[in-house]
Amino acid sequence: MKYPPVHYHDYLGIEALLGTQKRRSQDFGKPAHDEMLFIIVHQAYELWFKQVLFELDSVLEIFGTEKIEEKKMGRAVARLERIRDIITHTIGQIDILETMTPMDFLDFRDYLYPASGFQSFQWRMIETKLGLPVDQRLAYSESPFWRSLHPSQQEAMKKILSERSLFDGLESWLERTPFLSQPNFDFWKSYEQSVVNLLNEDEQVVRKNPRLNEADKEKTIKGLEATKQTYLNLFDPEKYRELQASGAVRFSSKALQAALFIMIYRDEPILQLPYRLLACLVDLDEKMTEWRYRHALMAQRMLGKKIGTGGSSGHEYLKSATEKHKIFADLVNLASFMIPSSQIPELPENIREQMNFFFRAPKSS
Ligand code: HEM
Repeated sequence: MKYPPVHYHDYLGIEALLGTQKRRSQDFGKPAHDEMLFIIVHQAYELWFKQVLFELDSVLEIFGTEKIEEKKMGRAVARLERIRDIITHTIGQIDILETMTPMDFLDFRDYLYPASGFQSFQWRMIETKLGLPVDQRLAYSESPFWRSLHPSQQEAMKKILSERSLFDGLESWLERTPFLSQPNFDFWKSYEQSVVNLLNEDEQVVRKNPRLNEADKEKTIKGLEATKQTYLNLFDPEKYRELQASGAVRFSSKALQAALFIMIYRDEPILQLPYRLLACLVDLDEKMTEWRYRHALMAQRMLGKKIGTGGSSGHEYLKSATEKHKIFADLVNLASFMIPSSQIPELPENIREQMNFFFRAPKSS
């Protein structure tokens, strides 16, 4: 044997791990059977959160350097995909916890005050490191969310809030995307032209539709005008700043253009990995929203209209957080600005060549 032998129990610290499930209902002399499930499900979540943070920290390290080493991108994407799959897996744990009835929950709920998932330091770290800013969060007891954390964790959270998040790293990386503006190709100008052509064609289709009367035509065209305006706002720097100020978009205009470029030309060999990254972040945003939604439904099922043990309005708070606490909404919303592939601006040959991988056979001597 190359290394000293180790026993399964010692290697995994099983004794310590299994020694931490203490039912308060038992301590107070009224043991509630389902409290064990409640504790174990929460602990399993916290273990998975630990793994998510372990992966996320390594991804942040890759995105934290001034010039991201492209050869590390494959690793970053694989780790983000792992995070996505962990979150997906943890949603299933809600089914297990829901085998507990609201009556079973009431048997021990009073022993929990004022403890709440709201105080989960690891969950708050995940949200913050991914890029959920303080000012985008719902107000809770009129104080910032980190005030609910254990006093020993509040300083650490303030430090994390001052550091670069994955959202920040992604934005800078997108801003550095090459190919967007070349002497013979300006992606944004060509895209704007395609969008205008597309919407004008749609307008003509409506105008020539013999089955619509004049009033219906005007109504449909008004709708098209509104869509056109939404698109055109993207191309107007002044309007874009207004969109940012209103919270409708978060990315800089340059980063948004690059994200759209990657999505649209995703089949070009050089863009396949960047596309996988963006697609994974869209998945992750969706899975986190799904988790929040399932958790809110579970809270409603267990509590009805009762308040949470942490003092929030319970289901109402969680439902609003599901809508508001989104991190990569800009990527999800890109779908609004997609156009059919037949209308996508053609890439000049020299750019397509630069985006390809070539194998050149060695010259025979
Ligand atoms: C019977 C099961 C559960 C109920 C009734 C419940 C209820 C609630 C309620 C009402 C809140 C809002 C804060 C408050 O007033 O306390 C909350 C927050 C939270 N809970 Fe749960 N919860 C349950 C299980 C879980 C589990 C298994 C986890 C896994 C870690 C969890 C994690 C969280 C987190 C992270 C928050 C903060 C959410 C946010 O602010 O966006 N909860 N929970």
